Amino acid sequence: MTNPQLNVHGELTHLLATEGLPREILIHILDTAATFVGITDREVKKIPLLRGKSVFNLFFENSTRTRTTFEIAAKRLSADVINLDITRSSTAKGETLLDTIDNLCSMHADMFVVRHAMSGAPYLIAEHLKRMGKHDIHVVNAGDGRHAHPTQGLLDMYTIRHFKKDFEPLTVAVVGDILHSRVARSDIHALKTLGVAELRAVGPKTLLPSEFSHLGMRVFHNLEEGLKDCDVIIMLRLQNERMNGALLPSVSEYFGHYGLSPEKLAYAKPDAIVMHPGPINRGVEIASEVADGQQAVILDQVTFGIAVRMAVMSILAGN
Ligand code: CP
Repeated sequence: MTNPQLNVHGELTHLLATEGLPREILIHILDTAATFVGITDREVKKIPLLRGKSVFNLFFENSTRTRTTFEIAAKRLSADVINLDITRSSTAKGETLLDTIDNLCSMHADMFVVRHAMSGAPYLIAEHLKRMGKHDIHVVNAGDGRHAHPTQGLLDMYTIRHFKKDFEPLTVAVVGDILHSRVARSDIHALKTLGVAELRAVGPKTLLPSEFSHLGMRVFHNLEEGLKDCDVIIMLRLQNERMNGALLPSVSEYFGHYGLSPEKLAYAKPDAIVMHPGPINRGVEIASEVADGQQAVILDQVTFGIAVRMAVMSILAGN
């Protein structure tokens, strides 16, 4: 089966998921991002790699970090950025997603950055563009339902490599609402491809799908055991908006068992880093003392997200 993310030369043409991305492409994105971190550190504000290109941000779901950092990244690459206001667009009048895409293509779009509540929506757009022969228009998945959030996965890999250098010796715990988390899926696929020593899934049975033990992860339902001697802890938000029915007894009980407090964090290695994709729920999955503490790299993740998104967009445009 062909990989819808790659062109006939095996180069990245859409970024839809970290699943199925070859290791060399992951590393190429991280290495390219490192050059952009250097550029932004040297205060060179703009580089012309996307000059004359139009990037359309299509966010059918709320976002603070992803939408804004994509916009900053595209502007730093000198692209024209169009943020479609979905609530005021014709989708609110019943226009289909693909009719909206056709109309934006007629406005000479070069790239679509898409967040959608429906898993698979960015794939639908990529397939449609292929059918229409529009091979030079690229799609970047900015989060689709429970399925994937590949640029979050990549910026998480960048953050881990920045603080820990090599992936191979690491024990990484992904903690919390894995069932509903597209970030967890993107992180897990990337971490497996990059070859960490041990990958753990930690959470209550109701929020831990059985697929994760099949993916070669060690599954823990006890937080202290799951964190023991970890190098990296990836906390996940409780995704209330994606839960159907009562999967948890109460939020306070959840925090008591699975919330990352300073006492629980002490089970990990003393130099372990604490990550979270945001938005954080203080006192639900993470205590303020940990979120604001020395081991948290949550705001570094956001900053690295700009360079990683610059890397993804420039690689796609170059291919
Ligand atoms: N991490 C993340 O996707 O955050 P936003 O929902 O604010 O974009």
